[in-house]
Amino acid sequence: MEAIECLKTRRSTRSYRTDPVPREVIEDIIDCGRLAATGNNVQPWRFVVVTDPAKRAEIARIAEYGKFIKDAPVCVAVLCENVKLYLEDGSNAMQNILLAAHAHGLGSCWVCADKKPYAPLLAKLIGAPDNFNLVALAAIGWAEKTSNAPKKPLSEVLDWEQFQMR
Ligand SMILES: Cc1cc2nc3c(=O)[nH]c(=O)nc-3n(C[C@H](O)[C@H](O)[C@H](O)COP(=O)(O)O)c2cc1C
Repeated sequence: MEAIECLKTRRSTRSYRTDPVPREVIEDIIDCGRLAATGNNVQPWRFVVVTDPAKRAEIARIAEYGKFIKDAPVCVAVLCENVKLYLEDGSNAMQNILLAAHAHGLGSCWVCADKKPYAPLLAKLIGAPDNFNLVALAAIGWAEKTSNAPKKPLSEVLDWEQFQMR
């Protein structure tokens, strides 16, 4: 898929088919995550891929807005060591992951973690040490249904040279 088309057509998926995703596809998606831009090239990230149904069910039970992780064949956890720009770096890696999944024809959805009180619990559940923060989770799989969340038009969000009050 052409890059600009990929950027413009990605949408969140919260309903998945159960068919497994080939391991090499998952690896390529994570490879795109680890190549993201990162402050001072620190690359503080680690990626944990969870496919085990019981573990996904446990993650889904804890993640308030990620119940669909139970049904998606793949859950990716993006963790970052507790450095200054960990949230920016981890978020950037996650966006690459969502886009790479879309380029492979897969659906995905970001699931909030860092700001949630249960983030440390989820990090512990997947075996992360205390100096790593769980930035976010992603559900990934073949899409059953994809969101059609409305987008603000470009004219509403773009200004040239100076911020315009609207
Ligand atoms: C930081 C962040 C946190 C999000 N957390 C969740 C979440 O916990 N659960 C969920 O279903 N979607 C979550 N989303 C997905 C957004 O709801 C979604 O991106 C938004 O509604 C726009 O829709 P789109 O992704 O289809 O363009 C999150 C997205 C971002 C960027």
